[in-house]
Amino acid sequence: MEQKFHWRRKMRERTFVMIKPDGIQRGLVGKLIKRLEQSGLKIVAMKLLSVPRNIAEKHYGIHKEKKFYENLLDYITSGPVVTMVWEGDKVIERVRKIVGATDPLEARPGTIRGDFAQQIGRNLIHASDSPENARNEINLWFTNQEIISYEKIDETWIYE
Ligand code: RTP
Ligand code: MG
Repeated sequence: MEQKFHWRRKMRERTFVMIKPDGIQRGLVGKLIKRLEQSGLKIVAMKLLSVPRNIAEKHYGIHKEKKFYENLLDYITSGPVVTMVWEGDKVIERVRKIVGATDPLEARPGTIRGDFAQQIGRNLIHASDSPENARNEINLWFTNQEIISYEKIDETWIYE
């Protein structure tokens, strides 16, 4: 009996996802969340906010020396964004696959960027690219209290 429910106690991987300002302005919030939701991943935190420039600088600090850095900060702070934490098996890799390549022209059809975006500077969505960055980004955007651990009723049918 105990054995049967081992999946319930398993702490699955988490990743940080942000729907960028173009996603909100183009009315794609529901569709983009659906892409993640329908794959069986679990949403454990979510909010809508205007991004303070200093948070954008921290979030994209890794690109500080790149020539697109200032443009990127302008883009991310140009309107409200939706920030989320998603949980699931290999969620970091899985969400990056669902999101698709950075340049929408390279992103395969069936991915979010491949299906909905055209330019690299308007690519709709961000997702963490490694366990270390996922941890740092989740801590940058959310407090522990804002992240909810709960059981979802379909988990027995998603995880064997
Ligand atoms: P993200 O961090 O937003 O999930 O995107 P990513 O990992 O696929 O790509 P990354 O290399 O981290 O770049 C961050 C964001 O910067 C913009 N960018 N513009 N003009 C350019 O050459 C250029 N390169 C990157 C994109 O909005 C990209 O998502
Ligand atoms: Mg990135």
